[in-house]
Amino acid sequence: MTPPRRALALEIGAGATAVESGAGATAVEFGEAPSGDFVILAVPYSAVLDVVKQYGEKLAGKTLIDITNPIKSDLSGFLIPADSFGAGEIAKVAPSDAAIIKAFNTQNSSVLAVGPARGHPLDVFIAGDDAQAKASVSAFIESLGLRPMDTGPLTMARTLEHACMLWLGLMAHSVKHGNFSLGVSLPR
Ligand SMILES: NC(=O)c1ccc[n+]([C@@H]2O[C@H](COP(=O)([O-])OP(=O)(O)OC[C@H]3O[C@@H](n4cnc5c(N)ncnc54)[C@H](OP(=O)(O)O)[C@@H]3O)[C@@H](O)[C@H]2O)c1
Repeated sequence: MTPPRRALALEIGAGATAVESGAGATAVEFGEAPSGDFVILAVPYSAVLDVVKQYGEKLAGKTLIDITNPIKSDLSGFLIPADSFGAGEIAKVAPSDAAIIKAFNTQNSSVLAVGPARGHPLDVFIAGDDAQAKASVSAFIESLGLRPMDTGPLTMARTLEHACMLWLGLMAHSVKHGNFSLGVSLPR
């Protein structure tokens, strides 16, 4: 696996995100130039397309980690047409040589902050088309004490965005709180 790179990440958006746990991540104010290899898109989906467009070629060659969920604020559905998905829309407006990796969108930041559940690292589902970028993001995830779980190509981001809706449905109707995590159980 590709080792984590130094100066790993720059986070656009200073809110509570899945990755505010060090590992080289630096939050910046909107408009500041990204300096790391990864750029974590930690803004609401409703803002992310404009942000990526405005950054434009400053994002060329970067790995863009899309943690957004294109879900309506009343949770009644998605903000995008049924034949599309958020990461795909980001890919359309990003520089052509930027790699888009969906990750972290199914994990609640407060759960990540608590850390491993019963000694097992929490799962971070990822999707993307660029194998090298995916390996680097996986190494980054492992460096945070988490377990990367590759779900396939970027089109799988649609499924991961729906998985967030699954998490929200479970929170509202079954679990009744947000202190839980979606993950994979493997037989020993
Ligand atoms: N929080 C979680 O547990 C969690 C889990 C999984 C995925 N996510 C995803 O992660 C992203 C960030 O979540 P969050 O909870 O941190 O959201 P948030 O607190 O609502 O917003 C994060 C940041 O986005 C900035 N922002 C908002 N609108 C902007 C705009 N038009 N242009 C530039 N920056 C803008 C905010 O800046 P200001 O403070 O200056 O407004 C804030 O720093 C979302 O897409 C969310 O779906 C969150």
